Amino acid sequence: MSTFTIDTSTSRATPSPVPGKRTTAPAIRGRKVDGKTDQPIVMLTAYTMRMAQLLDPHCDMLLVGDSLGQVIYGLPSTIPVTMEMMCAHGAAVVRGSWHALVAVDMPFGSYEASPEQAFQSASRIMKETGCAAVKLEGGQAMAPTIEFLARRGIPVIGHVGLTPQAVNVLGGYGARGKGKDEAKHIEDDARAVANAGAFSLVVEGVMEEIATRISRSVQIPVIGIGASADCDGQVLVTEDMLGMFERTPRFVKRYDDLAVRIGEAVAAYAAEVRERSFPTADQTYRPKS
Ligand code: KIV
Repeated sequence: MSTFTIDTSTSRATPSPVPGKRTTAPAIRGRKVDGKTDQPIVMLTAYTMRMAQLLDPHCDMLLVGDSLGQVIYGLPSTIPVTMEMMCAHGAAVVRGSWHALVAVDMPFGSYEASPEQAFQSASRIMKETGCAAVKLEGGQAMAPTIEFLARRGIPVIGHVGLTPQAVNVLGGYGARGKGKDEAKHIEDDARAVANAGAFSLVVEGVMEEIATRISRSVQIPVIGIGASADCDGQVLVTEDMLGMFERTPRFVKRYDDLAVRIGEAVAAYAAEVRERSFPTADQTYRPKS
């Protein structure tokens, strides 16, 4: 049973405000022409319907990132994130958006074993959420899987550099590519993902010059996070850029201080409840006189 709102131009069911206008994977791919993207691609994470509604008018892509493990569920890493979590939040984000392409992260353990396993997981994610693409982590090792999916109707976003699902192999979340060999490996990863048929590529947490070289050398749009302003687009975790957490990675710019503002609002509410100044006549039901 599908839980999402169908909004393709061919569907008469529950039309969106602008049916058929949702951004597609070929449209994102087509934003890079002859190695250049005129209008940088704007991407943010979203995990809930309401946040998707607020972000959608401003974004080209919404990513239902497996970072929801830490941001929503308070988990220590993305490793314990399940298919059930990704499907539930993916469906909510699709329901809350109509313009942006929604991509859903494939969780750790749902795709690495074989291309067939990846197809089972990706097709389930697409059926249960209505998303238009999936994202998976890994470079050369994942190229055959990306090709397998892309040839079977599944648009794929790659993810190289700092790949959080590999934290136990990498030994932490520090920037990657400080040495020559590792830099070359990341660039080879990026090329392998692009050649395998991904329509876009996230490059995370790498030395700036690596991201710049990758953006200039691969033909698909490169979306940076802790990467380079030369990338074809940027992505951030929304809660990080809104200032919901005290600690954020160095590459995050905080555009607001929502944690402080929420604290102030809740303190005001708590004080008014305690002194019985809330609710007032405006917020209570009384017989009409
Ligand atoms: O899970 C996530 O939010 C991500 C982005 C940070 C790129 O993969």
